[in-house]
Amino acid sequence: MVKTTKNSPSIFSQMTQLALEHGAINLAQGFPNMPIDSRLKECIAAAVRSEHHQYSPYQGMLDLRQEISKLIQRTSGVLVNPHEILITAGATQGIFTSVQALVGQGDEVILLDPCYDCYELPVVLVGAKPVHVPLNEDYLPDWERIEAAMTQKTRLIVINSPHNPSGRVWEEQEYRELERILAKFPNLHILSDEVYEYLAFDRPHFSVRNAPFLSERSVVMASFGKSLQATGWKIGYLTAPEALMNRILQVHQFLVFSVNSFVQKGIADFLSEFSATEVNRDYRSRRARFSSGLEKSKFRLLPCEGTYFQTLDYSQISDENDVDFAIRLTQEAGVASIPISVFNHDRRDLKHLRFCFAKTEETLIEATERLCRI
Ligand SMILES: Cc1ncc(COP(=O)(O)O)c(C=O)c1O
Repeated sequence: MVKTTKNSPSIFSQMTQLALEHGAINLAQGFPNMPIDSRLKECIAAAVRSEHHQYSPYQGMLDLRQEISKLIQRTSGVLVNPHEILITAGATQGIFTSVQALVGQGDEVILLDPCYDCYELPVVLVGAKPVHVPLNEDYLPDWERIEAAMTQKTRLIVINSPHNPSGRVWEEQEYRELERILAKFPNLHILSDEVYEYLAFDRPHFSVRNAPFLSERSVVMASFGKSLQATGWKIGYLTAPEALMNRILQVHQFLVFSVNSFVQKGIADFLSEFSATEVNRDYRSRRARFSSGLEKSKFRLLPCEGTYFQTLDYSQISDENDVDFAIRLTQEAGVASIPISVFNHDRRDLKHLRFCFAKTEETLIEATERLCRI
């Protein structure tokens, strides 16, 4: 049961609303404002015209799962069978469904703070306990602390690299630590949120699928909203070994049954043309545009190794807390961002704001000029 009677809008909606009220540039919510690939638009239009309007198989269209299997093989060299792939209504639904399937009442789930805001509620709703473990101040994991938080009741750890909100990308070494922990806790599963898999810039993305020992106990989450820059379509997929997939399917078939059929068909027809390298190159240049635009500002740029978020430290500008500062920045400077403390269960405030650079050149130039005036 959800305990509060007040439905407060998320920080993303609040900052977006504030940006609208003040005519501010919205770098708060993570969505691209560029047009999507015209070939993809054509594939979707063709799918609409060719009458793909009825229920698809509940695991997702076989065509699409086969194309995803090929995509995973060509981008990471790993073979995932189509029956180990489930099409979901965005990563949010895949995460919710996986938690319902793998976690029960009284279990514990490790969440690494700061973390994306949809992880906690499904844990609470199954009657399990979210155990929040802070990442280090550089937003990398503290494995000793994580291990100290584990108990015999721990069923799941949720990890996310490339990481929203910080933009850090885990090195392979972090996964070796995870393997060490997994070996000690035979009932532990991993939910690896890899929705920014194609947006790793300074080192290659390492998927848990690349480590067989992790892979056999992991659910990996992907989002076409991120990879195809179409966040509003709410379509993604997860991969899981058969034993986990069977449990996940039991929940999925009664939660959504099947996902929008013509979007599945359109994406299936497009995927052979999709280039992860092109997407990566494109975002790399947007990152460069945003960071070079801020060279003369008083903000300090934190490492952005991946995602489309750049974290800025404003401690040389103000000692206000990050929520107040983000509000003032929207009202006075005309640029909306997200204060990182809202991703922390304990609201730890390091004076860091998250800015989305999945924006057109003009938007990024105007936003950085405004930020340089601070
Ligand atoms: C880390 C992370 N996971 C999951 C999601 C949700 O993705 P979707 O829109 O496909 O539900 C997001 C969206 O911003 C995200 O940043």
